[in-house]
Amino acid sequence: MCGIFAYKGNKTNGAEIVINGLKKLEYRGYDSWGVAYKCDNEVKIYKEVGKIGEFDFNRSKEKLGFDKKCTLAVGHSRWATHGGVTVANAHPHASQDKTIAIVHNGIIENYLELKENLVKKGYEFKSETDTEVIAQLIQEYKDLGLVEGIKKALSMLEGRYAILVISDSDDLLIAARRGSPLIVGAGKDEHFIASDIPAFLEYTRNVMYLDDNQMVIIDNKATFIDLETDREIKKRIVEIDWDTESAEKGEFPHFMIKEISEQKDTISRAINQDPEKIMEIVEEINNAFGTYLIGCGTAGKVCLAGSYLFARIAEKHVNTAFGSEFPSLQQFITDKSLIIAVSQSGETADTLEAIEVAKKKGAKVLSIINVEGSTMDRISDFSIHIKAGPEKAVASTKATTAQMAILTLLAYGCAGKLDEGKFLLLDAASNINDMLNPRYEAHLHKLAEKIKDFESMYVIGKGLNYPMALEAAIKLQEVSYIHAEGFAGGELKHGPIALISEGTPCIVLVGKDETENEIISNAMEIKSRGGYIIGVAPDNHELFDYWIKVPESGNASPIVNIIPIQILAYQLAVLRQNNPDMPRNLAKSVTVK
Ligand code: G6P
Repeated sequence: MCGIFAYKGNKTNGAEIVINGLKKLEYRGYDSWGVAYKCDNEVKIYKEVGKIGEFDFNRSKEKLGFDKKCTLAVGHSRWATHGGVTVANAHPHASQDKTIAIVHNGIIENYLELKENLVKKGYEFKSETDTEVIAQLIQEYKDLGLVEGIKKALSMLEGRYAILVISDSDDLLIAARRGSPLIVGAGKDEHFIASDIPAFLEYTRNVMYLDDNQMVIIDNKATFIDLETDREIKKRIVEIDWDTESAEKGEFPHFMIKEISEQKDTISRAINQDPEKIMEIVEEINNAFGTYLIGCGTAGKVCLAGSYLFARIAEKHVNTAFGSEFPSLQQFITDKSLIIAVSQSGETADTLEAIEVAKKKGAKVLSIINVEGSTMDRISDFSIHIKAGPEKAVASTKATTAQMAILTLLAYGCAGKLDEGKFLLLDAASNINDMLNPRYEAHLHKLAEKIKDFESMYVIGKGLNYPMALEAAIKLQEVSYIHAEGFAGGELKHGPIALISEGTPCIVLVGKDETENEIISNAMEIKSRGGYIIGVAPDNHELFDYWIKVPESGNASPIVNIIPIQILAYQLAVLRQNNPDMPRNLAKSVTVK
């Protein structure tokens, strides 16, 4: 949530590097953007409302001064928290004397109190943001010197932050974090700092991770300070193996469809794990007394699917909670509990908070994540990397199915049938490879054309496919903006059926198992009230108005059944002229609570 990026080095087009890098972080927030750059010993700020991706650098560089020699720059692409979407609220924010510029990701919880004190001292504020308070506080303690002034200001903040600071008097780039991600890229005679790696991947693959309560000061080298002890710390350089192409759209019109297509490979890649490590984790799950799956958004739906998978495959009770709800359930956690955190980014604030709560009670933590080196990866006792490669579209697709594959594999492992699980998933992966073809997409496009103007649609599922009905609804809502809701088939008659009227599109996710007959009966109940039945099923049925064929996949059916819905959601978004990669009001990585 909010992309931040900075450059300091020997290249003289710092402002351009920062603007281009920010474009690659746009998925983190895209309501406004801005850049602060230092030239002729003066910090200049430029900001705009709108998407940075739409900004034409070459046309504006001279007019805006971005062509001036600049070796130090910071930038920000915003997802508004405090204050509306205006130029004044966009980052960077300057101190009152305009000598300091700062960008920030996170929320300062005590900013009103700090602001009041600063106002009493005569400071005037230009924005409604919490961030401006930090800039003014740094000015207030300027006499201590920039670095000490920043430390003093940070010591007064409550809440979460990742900040980048530059000033007109020091040739330094300074960053600090508590709770929001920051990664330092180390190139030859240059450094980058970003909230995510794709921003600087074209320049370097050597990274150093900033941890909570740490600061990094960059002159011509990077010096890391532990803010709790005020001591210098050494950092290990980690080499990232992502290639630049995997973080670009290539020939695809959008990241979302590119990432959907990548599911040809991502599932088999995900399950290609060291069997010994998997069995070590399986033992932890089998020995734990109380296991909780925790995730947010789509990852939360994957967790719910996990509960069903563990119950069905391993006869094991595994609880599920959304990250934001988990603190209210923590009373049951002990030092014998195991938390399984599921997350694409490894940075979602609510999931991280849930982990912190569980760790305080002595529980162990396993993370199933995509982004290696992310906060979750580093604070967990065990991690499984799903290896899906960068996922940039806000709506998760390839990470979802890879996470599902890992949970299925673990459930089979717990049942002592790891190989059976592997075969099942490899078979599903090969079926998905067959499904992802232009003919299949055309069939879904025809359906999208039929239903694109409806105001509401519903999705039902039962058993393993119930969590996928919820996930299908999220996918449709996020990118098509059509009101979509998912239900357990059996719950329909307890309320939702009142919403069905003539022609209402209803998607029915069918698994070829003991739930099949019942979900078909539920679909009949909808049909009798005029609903238009879209069956996602291995076999056609006379009750379906539109049939989307999926291969019979046993316990992998939730993985396979979600694929056509992802394609349908994408096509509805495009037909309704929405940008599927950057849906309104959303952001990819939700690093605020
Ligand atoms: C946001 C994204 C979702 C994602 C959720 C959790 O809401 O839009 O796609 O499922 O965050 O993110 P995580 O990175 O923890 O999987």
